Amino acid sequence: KRRIGVLTSGGDAPGMNGAVRAVVRMALHSDCEAYAIFEGYEGLVNGGNMIRQMYWEDVRGWLSRGGTLIGSARSMAFRERAGRLQAAKNLILRGIDALVVCGGDGSLTGADVFRAEWPSLLSDLIAAGELTPEQVEPYKVLNIVGLVGSIDNDMSGTDATIGCYSSLTRICDAVDDVFDTAFSHQRGFVIEVMGRHCGWLALMSAISTGADWLFIPEMPPRDGWEDDMCSIITKNRKERGKRRTIVIVAEGAQDRQLNKISSSIIKDILTKRLGLDTRTTVLGHTQRGGAACAYDRWLSTLQGVEAVRAVLEMSPNSPSPVITIRENKIMRTPLMEAVQATKDVTEKIQAKDFDAAMTLRDAEFKE
Ligand code: F6P
Repeated sequence: KRRIGVLTSGGDAPGMNGAVRAVVRMALHSDCEAYAIFEGYEGLVNGGNMIRQMYWEDVRGWLSRGGTLIGSARSMAFRERAGRLQAAKNLILRGIDALVVCGGDGSLTGADVFRAEWPSLLSDLIAAGELTPEQVEPYKVLNIVGLVGSIDNDMSGTDATIGCYSSLTRICDAVDDVFDTAFSHQRGFVIEVMGRHCGWLALMSAISTGADWLFIPEMPPRDGWEDDMCSIITKNRKERGKRRTIVIVAEGAQDRQLNKISSSIIKDILTKRLGLDTRTTVLGHTQRGGAACAYDRWLSTLQGVEAVRAVLEMSPNSPSPVITIRENKIMRTPLMEAVQATKDVTEKIQAKDFDAAMTLRDAEFKE
């Protein structure tokens, strides 16, 4: 029987448990054995009972649960070759030669490095007398399949990452709640949302809540934005009779010189220039926790099923795929192509080529 391992890595995201559940159950359904690797790559390096065989009922009730029930960690050990040697040994001793990794682009890149190094890791293990050639023989190839789990929706090549819609829903609920106070007191609120270098959560929540103004990393405001923002807000309040003002700011927001635009900077402007009673609300990790929304439950399930199919259909030298969704179709995309396209956007932003960054992001929407 094939033995398929599954792990979650990087920041937790709602829907990761649904993905693990689907991988475990699809593996069993396909007459394979399923193994959960606890605490991300740390579990791979440490082995022992951090790698556990999973059965159908082990994942019962996991669909709606937030976080990741098999844990996640930032493993320093796996970044070192010595750690990866240990990880390879642990997998071979358990007969696991396929890994489904659910995480962000950093975690998936780590998985692909491991796959590419696999033959040399095995040679080193044999040379060091840790494993015999006979032990290694059946496991010459390591299959890696990626699932993108992140609230940020920052991976190119997929319309949605597992977790982003749960987080978006949570942000919208929080903004709705803040609306009540903003309306009652005729206040302004600057709400900071997560997303690292990506403005998707900020953009989508601003549209979904009818915010007055928005800051995202990919499209810094033009110079003189302070005047633009104040004049729109004044118009909304004085001419359109809005009692409350909401500004959404992505945590990675910046101006055209790459200076951070923080919620406190915006608050100061609204307070000083408009005399608006303004508060800031940093939503923080409340955006990441909690039950998965319906979309993330079915996305993680369909993608987990597809990940196991991909493992079983992979030819030895095919590049690692990442499971994506495009125009509502679950697809396989070359993992490193998606990672590279993601890096391209960040690089354009860092080089202050914002038009190019937007074109790349835009192209994804139109693809
Ligand atoms: O990638 C998910 C994310 O929540 C980002 O939006 C945020 O920048 C980061 O993780 C926070 O990481 P940590 O939980 O390590 O502070």
